Amino acid sequence: MPDDSPYFFMREFSHEELANLLINKVKELKAEKLQSQELNERLQENLAHLEETTAKLEETEEALKKERDNLKLEVQRKTDELLKKEKLSAIGELAARIAHDMRNPLSVIKNSAELIKRSQKNMDSNTKVTWERLERGIYRISHQVDDVLDYVKPSPLKKKPAKISGILHDVYERIAIPDKIKINLPKTDITIPCDHDKLETVFVNLIMNSIQAIGDKTGNISITLIDESDDVVLITVHDDGPGIPQKLIRKIFEPLFTTRQIGTGLGLPSCKNIIENHGGSIDVSSARGKGTTFLIRLPTKTEWENLSKIGDKEKLTNYISSVSLKM
Ligand SMILES: Nc1ncnc2c1ncn2[C@@H]1O[C@H](COP(=O)(O)OP(=O)(O)OP(=O)(O)O)[C@@H](O)[C@H]1O
Ligand SMILES: [Mg+2]
Repeated sequence: MPDDSPYFFMREFSHEELANLLINKVKELKAEKLQSQELNERLQENLAHLEETTAKLEETEEALKKERDNLKLEVQRKTDELLKKEKLSAIGELAARIAHDMRNPLSVIKNSAELIKRSQKNMDSNTKVTWERLERGIYRISHQVDDVLDYVKPSPLKKKPAKISGILHDVYERIAIPDKIKINLPKTDITIPCDHDKLETVFVNLIMNSIQAIGDKTGNISITLIDESDDVVLITVHDDGPGIPQKLIRKIFEPLFTTRQIGTGLGLPSCKNIIENHGGSIDVSSARGKGTTFLIRLPTKTEWENLSKIGDKEKLTNYISSVSLKM
């Protein structure tokens, strides 16, 4: 080995020592290789993990974007709803004032028309037709005025135990039922705590709707009472009229929704208010050509009876003090 060789130091070692050094070096290199393989594997794993996390983050970002867009839409919808409600309540107040102011002159017109009719015994047929038209017009306006006032200015409930049969009897007296329509009243009866006059309005509205839906055709309207549970009665009002198309069902309880030319669209919203103020619910089941059924659920027990049944002392005490405050 020449003196200027970079491996000149090897001359200092015996062959055996050199071999040992070499073996140790190889071992070291092998261990390092193993270590670097392990590191590489871990790196690959981490990379895969990172990719997975990035994909998840992208997914979350996408979901958050969607959520944000949905929230934006929701805020927009709620704002529109609020504006609509504000507008409606302003219009409602105006409508209530006009309706209220119309009531007195309207009853003067009604009574005067009745008096003139009575004094004119020998009306010719033309005048009779005109007179009937006048009466229908008066009836229509007073119905709309009542509808508006019922809806816009609901008075507090005057609850007393009342028989459903009694309420339905009074309803029967109030409406003109066409000859081709048959009303089947319930075979059972029940006494519930309710505002007689308000429930009468509900049944008048529902039966009038059924009569209007059946129109000139022959039809049946059936009312049933079912004890759904110990403290809930289910009252159904069914007619075999044309039914309500699926796409309109959602809208029928909305104020001012009507498909009738002379409808106000306040009949069903008033019914809903009255029933909900009684602590009940009203639903509809209908399909085009399948008739319509309104389902009314009402509590059969008074608040007092319910509270004493549950035995909630705190609520009972609150109830007693709220009632004595009202007295
Ligand atoms: N029994 C029924 N059969 C078919 N459609 C019905 C029935 N009851 C209600 N509807 C539909 O629901 C709409 C809303 O009824 P609602 O009683 O609120 O108003 P209206 O009868 O149109 O007017 P109003 O009662 O104020 O004179 C009706 O216009 C009609 O389209
Ligand atoms: Mg109606």
